[in-house]
Order: sequence, then C-alpha cells, then structure tokens
Amino acid sequence: MTRPDPLPSTGKRHPIFARVFARAGPAMDAQGALEHRRALLAGLAGRVLEVGAGNGLNFPHYPATVTEVLAIEPEPYLRRQAVAAARQAPVPIRVLAGTAEALPAPDGAVDVVVASLVLCTVTDLDQALAETRRVLRPGGRLRFYEHVRAEDPRLARWQDRLQRPWEWLVGGCHPNRDTVAGMTTAGLRLVQLDRFNLPAMPPLARPHVLGVAEWGRSTRCKEGRNHADDRGEEPAVGQAGPDRPGDPGDPRGDRVVAEGNPVGHHRGAQGPRRAHP
Ligand SMILES: C[S@@+](CC[C@H](N)C(=O)[O-])C[C@H]1O[C@@H](n2cnc3c(N)ncnc32)[C@H](O)[C@@H]1O
Repeated sequence: MTRPDPLPSTGKRHPIFARVFARAGPAMDAQGALEHRRALLAGLAGRVLEVGAGNGLNFPHYPATVTEVLAIEPEPYLRRQAVAAARQAPVPIRVLAGTAEALPAPDGAVDVVVASLVLCTVTDLDQALAETRRVLRPGGRLRFYEHVRAEDPRLARWQDRLQRPWEWLVGGCHPNRDTVAGMTTAGLRLVQLDRFNLPAMPPLARPHVLGVAEWGRSTRCKEGRNHADDRGEEPAVGQAGPDRPGDPGDPRGDRVVAEGNPVGHHRGAQGPRRAHP
C-alpha cells in the first residue's frame, strides 16, 4: 500500500527519477557536491526560501543564523523525504508543495532564495526567476548552485541534440539551459559567479556554477572572483555576506524581515535604492 501524501499535489510527479535521485544524491555529495552545498549556504541569515528542495540534502547545512526556511518541493516522494529531513535540521524548516513558477509566499517575504540543481529542471525559467524576484525583499539575494549550458560550442551542441532524451531520463532537466543569462534578463544582478566542472558529473551536465545574484541594488560582476560594489568588496559565496537586512555592509539600515515581523509586511518597497555611480 502506498503511503498517503501528507501535502497537496502540484501535479509534478517523476516517481522513477525521484527514487533514483534520493539514492544518487548522497553519492554525488560524497564525490564533491557536498562542499558546494556548504559554500552555497555558508553565511546565510534571516528568512530563506529554497526552491525545489528535493529530499532535503541542503537542510543539515543551514547555519544557525537562518531564522526560518520555507522549502518548496513539487514531487511527492521527494517532498515526504524532505519533511523527514526537516525534522532533523538545525534550523526551523517548513516544507510546502509548490513550484518555482508559482511560489507560495508573499511579495518581498524573504531575504534569500536558494536554488540548487533545480533551475535546470523548472518548466519555465523566466517565470521561476520572476517569482524569485517577487518574493525577495529589495536587496535580497538568490544563492545558486546549478549546472548550465556549456561555453564550449561543441559540448553545447551535444547538449542541444541530447536535450530531449536527457530531459526524459533526468526528471525534466535541461542540460543546455543558459540559466545565468536568464538571471540577468530577469533583472537580477550578478554579484558572484564561479564556474567549474564537477568530475563526478557526466560531461553533458557541465559546467556547474555557484554564485550570488541580487535584486534591487546596483552591483557589477566579474566572473570567478569577488566583486567590488559601492561599499567595497563583497564576500565570496561561502563567506558571511550581507544577505540579511541590517548585516554589516547592508546600506539600507532597516530591519524589515529579520525581527519576526509578519512575512510580506514591507510589500511595495521593491526597486533599486540607489544607482551605481
Ligand atoms: C536534481 S533535483 C535537486 C534537489 C535539491 N535542490 C538538491 O539540491 O538536492 C531537482 C529538483 O527540482 C524539483 N523540481 C522540478 N520541477 C520543479 C519546479 N517547476 N519547481 C520547483 N521544483 C521543481 C524536482 O522535484 C527535484 O526535487
């Protein structure tokens, strides 16, 4: 007898992939992915929304400075595992059914959106990134760890050719997706971007990127290093950074989310606070 799904369905069912991923995920972590997950989450603080949380492999790595995580997962089998993982997590985590294209959170509700190995899979990247922007407070950040379209044109052509069978085999994943370009098109500003190959991954799923994009403040980015903005050097992914209002270096000075106010109470404050000189 199958166990009842404790949470409502979103219609996203990939039962075979979900079971394969639940077994393969920890193995991938053991072969190098774990250090990237840790770097992805290091230094986070405040309210976090994680999209496509899978079976909760990130959950043990949230730092204690995170006050609350809202974890969205559409696939019922993985979501049940995420609920179990949330019970063991070092910070409060609520797991909800939902998709990146229609996030169940009010405007400006969170300090940080976390996306790991998920933007390759969402059905509509533009809509998912528009939703990311919507739920972020002004100055809030997207922390991402993804595999993306290859820069090498030969590999990119193979990613295009094999897109359909790969998508079918790997739960809807698009190896040829230019996710970083999608972020800038969506109006998110890149603060940090590191690009690397994970030897454990098949060539079709290379390279990976690990980075930070920001909504609502002006920042320039160069690839592969930290980037100066109008306040001085930004920390790298994996170091403490101004991901929460009131953190050192956050010029806004207000405390709209971190003091336990109702989620979304600062709605309407979207938009850049000042232009880059
Ligand atoms: C490769 S798994 C990664 C899981 C997790 N983020 C991790 O890092 O281990 C991809 C995840 O994206 C989820 N997913 C697929 N389509 C989605 C969508 N439209 N919105 C949100 N999540 C989605 C899948 O159910 C799956 O949990």
